[in-house]
Amino acid sequence: MTTLTPILSKFWDHPQSWTLETYEANDGYKALKKAFGMEPSALVGMAKDSGLRGRGGAGFPTGMKWSFLPPPDGGPRYLVVNADESEPGTCKDIPLMMAAPHFLIEGVAITSFAIGCHHAFIYLRGEVVHVYRRLMRAVEEAYAAGHLGKNIHGSGFDLDVTVHAGAGAYICGEETALLDSLEGRRGQPRSKPPFPAVAGLYARPTVVNNVESIASVPPILLHGADWFAGMGAEGSKGFGIFSLSGHVTRPGQYEAPLGITLRELLDMAGGMRDGKQLKFWTPGGSSTPLFTAEHLDIPLDFDSVAKAGSMLGTRALQIFDETTCVVRAVDRWTDFYKHESCGKCTPCREGTWWLKQITGRLEHGQGTEEDLEKRLDICDNILGRSFCALGDGATSPVTSSIQYFRDEYLDHLRHGGCPFDRDASSLFA
Ligand code: NAI
Ligand code: SF4
Repeated sequence: MTTLTPILSKFWDHPQSWTLETYEANDGYKALKKAFGMEPSALVGMAKDSGLRGRGGAGFPTGMKWSFLPPPDGGPRYLVVNADESEPGTCKDIPLMMAAPHFLIEGVAITSFAIGCHHAFIYLRGEVVHVYRRLMRAVEEAYAAGHLGKNIHGSGFDLDVTVHAGAGAYICGEETALLDSLEGRRGQPRSKPPFPAVAGLYARPTVVNNVESIASVPPILLHGADWFAGMGAEGSKGFGIFSLSGHVTRPGQYEAPLGITLRELLDMAGGMRDGKQLKFWTPGGSSTPLFTAEHLDIPLDFDSVAKAGSMLGTRALQIFDETTCVVRAVDRWTDFYKHESCGKCTPCREGTWWLKQITGRLEHGQGTEEDLEKRLDICDNILGRSFCALGDGATSPVTSSIQYFRDEYLDHLRHGGCPFDRDASSLFA
């Protein structure tokens, strides 16, 4: 039986968990002092040895990303933290920044020292004004205590941190769109290569990392790469925050080793709400193909989830019970992708629009059986042919719902409408 590993979340229930005082009482900023006694290259080596993979969804090895920066040339290099958490169902970075923002700020300082950055940015969703205020306050506290600014702890290392609030577009979570937005332009993905490591913010070498990835750095440095690598699964080391939402008794954030199963997490979360049966769920947000009750025992690590036909993504476990209409859920997600498509490339711009038209029609029992094949064909023309991951993600709920629930689509057609209670409470109560 896997147990929870409260590390980043260990003092979230403290009444003043977000203050510097609480953080320092829980070993806060000890790792930063340790870092200054090490060579930057040793810190990059530590990140590599720990096996930490990016927690923003793609799972790219963090230490390897740091090591991709070209050798210093005297010009600036940047760390940009992607705090634009927007994937439907994902709710881990925002609670982390609200409850314990200094994990992130200490991680920013250590990472900046490791990669030779003197100005780091935290790019946050514009809508979460409460998080913005909390982060700004924490940054002020860190400056006042000498954890940021000039000659930090007498190390000779200088670092400034800017917290930037975006304007609330899902696409600005894509790292190159985020960089464009940070530079003051409309956020749209750039072509890669060059990757940000070579030409990122202001065309300078830039590391873009997710909030949880950077927040994990201080505990790894404090306890050692072996400690971190001792948790989790082969190829998916360490712990992560799983966000459970939907028809579950106690939704919330559960910090556990990668490789834990949904069955185990559901046990910890009090099971399905009202004793209902699990019908379908997302392992990593709506951009990852749906799973069903038959996948309850799949270890939630990168490789096992991929082998079972989905992606670990952001570990956003959205749980739906037997009373939920899958067609309606897919219709809502498709509407989201249609709305958030940035319009830069044709397969995604046009494809998501058509997917929404047809899915809405089916939900109202007004389509034909051929519409199912038409949607699969549209997905075929989006997947792998779009400019960025948003297009690919939009196809996941569509294709996987047809794979597992084709009969339910046909029921809509036979019924001339949704066979479930159309009251929205059946889906979102
Ligand atoms: P990606 O696999 O293209 O890149 C991952 C990271 O590795 C990037 O930082 C990229 O610059 C770096 N990288 C990859 N190959 C590289 C190379 N050869 N040289 C240097 N750097 C390299 O994935 P992408 O498009 O950045 O992210 C897609 C994922 O984002 C999805 O799987 C999804 O789970 C996640 N996502 C997360 C959201 C959230 O709210 N957290 C929202 C939407 C999607
Ligand atoms: Fe924009 Fe969609 Fe193309 Fe990405 S896939 S560039 S979001 S239109």
